[in-house]
Amino acid sequence: MRILAISGSLRRGSYNTLLLETVAELLVDGVELAIFPGLKAVPPYDQDDDVEPAPAAVQRLRGAIAASDAVLFATPEYNSSIPGQLKNALDWASRPVATNVLRNKPVAVVGASTSMFGAVWAQAELRKVLSSLGARVVDVELPVPHAQTRFRDGRLFDPELRSRLAEVVYALVGEAVPLPSAA
Ligand SMILES: Cc1cc2nc3c(=O)[nH]c(=O)nc-3n(C[C@H](O)[C@H](O)[C@H](O)COP(=O)(O)O)c2cc1C
Repeated sequence: MRILAISGSLRRGSYNTLLLETVAELLVDGVELAIFPGLKAVPPYDQDDDVEPAPAAVQRLRGAIAASDAVLFATPEYNSSIPGQLKNALDWASRPVATNVLRNKPVAVVGASTSMFGAVWAQAELRKVLSSLGARVVDVELPVPHAQTRFRDGRLFDPELRSRLAEVVYALVGEAVPLPSAA
């Protein structure tokens, strides 16, 4: 199965992107993860531009989500909420409403921030938005507070956080690939 990973941060060296890179080290056999590289290219949402064919960067976003079995988001917190470019991308992904690419898609949210709270508000807001689009939002949260102290050589080294991150991925995979019923 394929997990698409979307970091809400555009900056080089983003702790949230590093968090997603760490996930790649925790995957079990048969599960692949690809980090979406095109968030920055997504144009500002304009309903006048939301026609067929969609702008190329939007097609790439929608196509990458549609081709995945599940989506894992890592979001920073900007001013107690979701970064604008991530929300903008979700607005594009949300159309057309009835058939939007996130409808029924298993999704999970984690987040890192440099404060003591670990982006919990942004994670909650992101889960709310994803729920409103009809995604199957896994009921987990992973706050990574004081993110500037959590990575060494670009790797999340705290064993407790690594284990909780693996649990999030396990829950996401479980949502995407339901276990066969015992009968
Ligand atoms: C515009 C802006 C607003 C921010 N607001 C918050 C905030 O509300 N809460 C918080 O915990 N951190 C906030 N921060 C700090 C981020 O947690 C920190 O920059 C973090 O490293 C961003 O994630 P990244 O490393 O993935 O880019 C803010 C940073 C910026 C640039």
